[in-house]
Amino acid sequence: MYYPEDVVEEVRVRNDILEVISLYVKLVKKGSSYFGLCPFHNEKTASFSVSTQKQMYYCFGCGAGGNVISFVMQYENYSFTEALTMLAERAGISLPNVEPTKQERQAQDLKLTLLDINKMAANYYYSQLNKPNGAMALEYLMDRKLSEETIKHFGLGFSNKTPDDLYRFFKSKNYDDTLLKDTGLITIEERGSRDKFWNRVMFPILDINNRVIGFGGRVMGEGMPKYLNSPETKLFDKSRNLYGLNFARTSRKDYMLLCEGYMDVISLHQAGFTNAVASLGTAFTQQQAMLLKRYVSKIIITYDSDEAGIKAALRAIPIFKEFGISTRIINMKPYKDPDEFIKNLGNDEYQKRIDEAKNSFLWEIDIYKRDYNLQDPEQKTAFQHYIAKRLCMFTEKLERDNYMHSVADQQFIQYEDLKRMVNVMGEQIVRIRKPDSVNERKIYKPKSSDDGILKSQRLLITWMIEDESLFDKIKEYINPDDFTEQLYHDVAIKIYKEHENGTLNPASILNEYVGDEDKSRKVAELFNTDLGREMGTLEKNKAISESIIKIKQASLDKASQNAISIEQLQKIIKEQAEFKTKKIIIN
Ligand code: CTP
Ligand code: MN
Repeated sequence: MYYPEDVVEEVRVRNDILEVISLYVKLVKKGSSYFGLCPFHNEKTASFSVSTQKQMYYCFGCGAGGNVISFVMQYENYSFTEALTMLAERAGISLPNVEPTKQERQAQDLKLTLLDINKMAANYYYSQLNKPNGAMALEYLMDRKLSEETIKHFGLGFSNKTPDDLYRFFKSKNYDDTLLKDTGLITIEERGSRDKFWNRVMFPILDINNRVIGFGGRVMGEGMPKYLNSPETKLFDKSRNLYGLNFARTSRKDYMLLCEGYMDVISLHQAGFTNAVASLGTAFTQQQAMLLKRYVSKIIITYDSDEAGIKAALRAIPIFKEFGISTRIINMKPYKDPDEFIKNLGNDEYQKRIDEAKNSFLWEIDIYKRDYNLQDPEQKTAFQHYIAKRLCMFTEKLERDNYMHSVADQQFIQYEDLKRMVNVMGEQIVRIRKPDSVNERKIYKPKSSDDGILKSQRLLITWMIEDESLFDKIKEYINPDDFTEQLYHDVAIKIYKEHENGTLNPASILNEYVGDEDKSRKVAELFNTDLGREMGTLEKNKAISESIIKIKQASLDKASQNAISIEQLQKIIKEQAEFKTKKIIIN
C-alpha cells in the first residue's frame, strides 16, 4: 500500500463515519444504527445503515458497504489516494510524503507513458489531416459538415494508408515494442508490426480530465467494419467512460443528452448542444450511469430511431431508474439520428424535440402498444392489462395516480376503469409478493447454491464483532479454518488475531480492502448481516448454537472430501463423531 498502515488508520479514526456521511445523506437514528436513503441505488424506503459502533456503512438493499474511506471513494468516485487526501485535510492531518513502491512507481510510470504515447498519436493523426495524404479525410469531414473549429475541438485526425505508419513514427522516437503493444494501437507480429488503424478518420477518446485514453476510427464511405475502436488497455475501459463527457460536464445544463455515436455527439456540440455524450460502441452500463449521476439527475435519450436504437433505449431505462435518474426519450422521426436530424431540420427544431421529449414510462407503453392489434377486443384487453400491471409497479400512491392520469389521457382509457383494474391487480400482486425489502435484495444479489452455509458464516461473524463476549464462547467450537469461503477465512484470521490482542476493530480491517470495491462490499456484508428481528437471549443463543453446528459440520464434511490420506480421514471422522456428542453451551 502507498501510505503506511498506521497513517491510513489515523485518517480513518479521525473522521467519524456518521459526521462524514451526514454531509451527503440525511440520516435518522433507529435502534443502535442510523438509517437513510441509499446514495448508491434508487430506493424509497431507507435501507442504508451507518453504525457508529462499527464505524461502517452498509446498505441492506444493494449491498454497498465499507468504512469512511471507501464511502468517500465510492461517493465521489475518488481513487484511494484522493479519498485519503480529502479525509486527512478534513481532519487536519498532514500526510507524509511517501515514496511509492517500485511496483507502484512502475505501474504509475507505465500509465503516464501510455498517456503520453496516446497524446502523441492523437497529435500525429491530427497533423496528417493537413498533409497531402490526408486530403481525402479532411474532405470527408467537411462533407459531413464539420467546421475546422469542430475538427480541432474534438482533435479529429487521419490514419494513413501505409499499414505501419504510426509504428514507424514511434520507432523513430525509440519506443520499444512491448510498450507500443500496450497502447492497443499497434500489433506486434512475427512477420512485422502493424498499425491497428489505417486509412480511417480518427476520433480520440478523452476521459473527464481531457486525457487521451483510446481511439475510434471510421472508414471513409462504405466498408466494414464501419467503426473500429481501441481494445481494452490499462487506460481504456469502454464501460466506464462516455464520449464527450469531458466537455458536457461543464455545460451547466441540468440534464445531458445521451446518443449512440461519435458523430452524433460532435454534430450536437457543433450545434450548441454541448451537453451531449455517447457510450462507446457498447450497450449503456451501470458504471456509466454512476458517472453521469455525478453531474446530472436527468437524462434525455436521443438514440437512433431504428429498432436497434429502441432496443438499446429499453435496456438503458431501467439502469437509469436504478440510479434514480429521470429519463425522457426524444422522438427523432423522420430522421435516423441527431446528426441527420440537425442537418435537415436545424437546431430550433431539435430544441423543440428536446422540450417535447417523452417520459420514459409513457414511451415504453407506446413501444409495447405496437405488439397489439387494438381493433381486436381480446388483444385490446390484453394491452390494457399489461398497462395496469406496469402501473402496479409504482409503489407510491401519488406517483401511481399521476401516471394513471397520463396513461388514461394518452391511451384513451377511462381513468376510473384503469384505476379499478390497477387496484384489483395490485391486490393480486401484493398477495404473491414478499415484503419490499426482500424483493429489492433479490434483484441485486442472486442466490448461490451454498448460500445457506455462507449466510450462517456471516451471521456468526456479525454476532462475534457486535458482542465480543460471544467471541470467547464461539471460538471454543469454531476456528478460522471453518470459514470455507476464502475471503471469509482471511477475515476470520484477522478478527481472531485482533480479538486475541484485545484490539478488535472491524472498520480498520476494511482499510485493507477499500481499493477493491467488490471485496470491500463482501467484507462489509460479512460484518453487517441482517440479524432479523430483535431476539430474546434464549432465542439468540439457540440461533447461535444452530449456526455453529451448521458451520462445523459443513467444514468437517469439506475436510473429509479433501482428505488425502487414510490417517487424515480417520482423524476427521473422529472429530465428526466427537462434535456430534458435544454440547454447545452459549449463555
Ligand atoms: N459502432 C461501432 N462499430 C460499428 C458500428 C457502430 O463501434 N461497426 C459504434 C460507434 O461508436 C458508433 C455508434 O456505434 O458511433 C453508432 O453507430 P452508427 O449509428 O452506425 O454510427 P453513426 O454515429 O450513425 O455513424 P455515421 O454517422 O458515421 O455513419
Ligand atoms: Mn447513428
